[in-house]
Amino acid sequence: MTPIDGSSAIPNNVGLDDASPLAKTLARFKTDYMKWWRECGPQGFDAAQCYLRMPVAADARGWASYEYVKLADFRWGVFQAERAPDKPALFGRLAGRPKLDEVPADYRSTVIKLLTTQADTEPASVEQITYLGRMAPSNYDLRNLFQINCEEGRHLWAMVHLLCAHFGKDGEREIEGLLQRRSGSAEKPRILNAFNHPIEEFLSFLFWSTLADRDGKYQLLSMSESAFDPLARTCKFMLFEEAHHMFVGDDGLRRVIQRTAELMLEHDTDDVAPHGGINLSTIQRYLNYWAPPVIDLFGSEMSQWSEDLFDAGLKGRVYEAERYSEHVRLDETIDLERAVNGAAGEPRLAGERVPMRKAINEVARDTYLREIDGVIDRWNRMLAKMEIKFAFARPSKRFNRKIGAYKDFFFTPDGRRVTREEFEAGMKSWVPSEAEKAHVRALMQPVHAPGKIAGWIAPPARGIDGKPVPYEYVRL
Ligand SMILES: [Fe+2]
Ligand SMILES: [Fe+2]
Repeated sequence: MTPIDGSSAIPNNVGLDDASPLAKTLARFKTDYMKWWRECGPQGFDAAQCYLRMPVAADARGWASYEYVKLADFRWGVFQAERAPDKPALFGRLAGRPKLDEVPADYRSTVIKLLTTQADTEPASVEQITYLGRMAPSNYDLRNLFQINCEEGRHLWAMVHLLCAHFGKDGEREIEGLLQRRSGSAEKPRILNAFNHPIEEFLSFLFWSTLADRDGKYQLLSMSESAFDPLARTCKFMLFEEAHHMFVGDDGLRRVIQRTAELMLEHDTDDVAPHGGINLSTIQRYLNYWAPPVIDLFGSEMSQWSEDLFDAGLKGRVYEAERYSEHVRLDETIDLERAVNGAAGEPRLAGERVPMRKAINEVARDTYLREIDGVIDRWNRMLAKMEIKFAFARPSKRFNRKIGAYKDFFFTPDGRRVTREEFEAGMKSWVPSEAEKAHVRALMQPVHAPGKIAGWIAPPARGIDGKPVPYEYVRL
């Protein structure tokens, strides 16, 4: 196990020498980062002592320990999973050859763009939830919100370190922008559109953690077997942290749905809004709202950029080692739809069979959607067990897309093609109405006292780190 040097100015396990130019660059970054954190991190909780897990080692088991800290004192730093010295590169034209400690000159600008785009999502997701502490439904949920906040901040550190350590001045130039862009800003928005969507209810935060943090997992997985070994090990460590983010979303939504179902049975009605709950149909509409921008994050179906990154051994497919036996040519085909010009020049969709290397984004998206289907299946099984006749449905990947083959067409949530007029009329009932949003927002009152819980969500089954559910996770 590689222990983490907590005595260094920047906590790390990458052998950072405090006197080195790199350490000095990171120390300057820390000053700017803390300024950004005070402005964009959780507002109103500076004095709170929060029971957070913080990195202590690089091993998947026992990588973190829990302690009470103020949020501003979180152990932000640079951590990488352990080196696997004998493992050669897995895929692309480097397959079977030694892994790289530096990026070949031809790919420097490509990898800088890859790292900058990943880095930009991390502070964005802190900015999206700056005020959500004020509507956390329990002390336990408040703690989980802060854990995610701090770790997203640390993920920025992980990417900034790679940019500075391996790309010199070219990498350093990107750093300023990472702290200057703002989620949702008209002048300087975040790079990826989904990260500019404001998250205004705790319910939306739970959807975000289920959908977007899971997209994050897929991005990290696809880089965790990179031939550029520092990137691979950085992403492996981030994956330790990411699992909890998805748990917060998955289990949070399960608890919301459980509470709604309990209220339905108790009051013998589908409409639990008057009883302080969130109707299942409203929850479905929030799913319809949040899924398309996250599905867009995987990019266009066919992508030369992804093919090049794969060929260079830099970014692979998710579960590259576990699920695939051929890692170089990717001749195996997949079926997808493309927008083509019809006879009269009007665009239409046509099925096409393409080699997998041309459609790496689509392969990742389909794998991701199957995992989301598994999450929704679990909700539906819980409802069936409670004898409630309602089934959630994941919106089709055709629905309301802004990127890729479907963006110029109109579809219903179940993937049926409709006219623009039908789509615009349908959207009124497919995504939350103003009245529904107002109801949800009215429910999002803070409940911070240990052991208490808001009426719209069921308590968790167990606490954090073996502590009881009513534990005082955040001392206010
Ligand atoms: Fe992250
Ligand atoms: Fe995350």
